[in-house]
Amino acid sequence: MERGSLVLRVALTLLTVAATPTHCSYHSHTLPNVHHEEKVTHLHFYLFDIISGDKPSAVEVARSNSTKNDSSPTPFGSVWAIDDPLREGPEATSKVIGNAQGLYVSSVQDETKLGLVMYVDFGFTEGKFKGSSFSVFSRNPVTETNRELAVVGGRGRFRMAKGFAKLKTSYLNVTNGDAIIEYKVTLIHY
Ligand SMILES: *[C@@H]1O[C@H](CO)[C@@H](O)[C@H](O)[C@H]1NC(C)=O
Ligand SMILES: *[C@@H]1O[C@H](CO)[C@@H](O)[C@H](O)[C@H]1NC(C)=O
Ligand SMILES: *[C@@H]1O[C@H](CO)[C@@H](O)[C@H](O)[C@H]1NC(C)=O
Repeated sequence: MERGSLVLRVALTLLTVAATPTHCSYHSHTLPNVHHEEKVTHLHFYLFDIISGDKPSAVEVARSNSTKNDSSPTPFGSVWAIDDPLREGPEATSKVIGNAQGLYVSSVQDETKLGLVMYVDFGFTEGKFKGSSFSVFSRNPVTETNRELAVVGGRGRFRMAKGFAKLKTSYLNVTNGDAIIEYKVTLIHY
């Protein structure tokens, strides 16, 4: 091969390689999961779901037209946005250690019962788990005394979390819907 042509070929090849946009090539990498050891964490706190008053922590964002005249605070089909404080104890003066943000939907048609489905992220602002949160996606049969929610994920120190939360109603005003709920959470995470 002629020398000049070889130089040209090499130059063209280099140019092609340099112009290939490597950042958008499909890439995957699978290894055995040997670097992560699972831990178990137990958490105990109280969630304050306050509907009444000037500064409610739960607000209704949608309601079906067919339940417009329903006197229940949470008729079937109503959708609520929440930023509920999590406190150490059941007293309103108890220290806030985090907040539960997200949505719940009143999902039971039987008027003698109240059931929600919760799509909620529980985040912590104090202690060892400050900045971390876990995610609940679960039905919550509110009128049952003891109930369990599914934890489906987490962030930060709760990365890859799975687990469950045992709930007990500590206070409920059926007239205005205000509630204080005890949470005992078991999380398995990295
Ligand atoms: C809602 O219900 C009222 C009657 O209660 C009716 O006049 C109105 O058209 C309904 N609106 C929709 C969007 O269905
Ligand atoms: C709700 O109440 C209003 C006023 O009493 C009435 O006009 C309306 O038809 C009722 N709507 C439904 C869906 O029952
Ligand atoms: C429950 O809510 C109703 C309506 O807001 C209020 O009048 C009543 O005092 C509340 N009950 C308690 C025990 O706080």
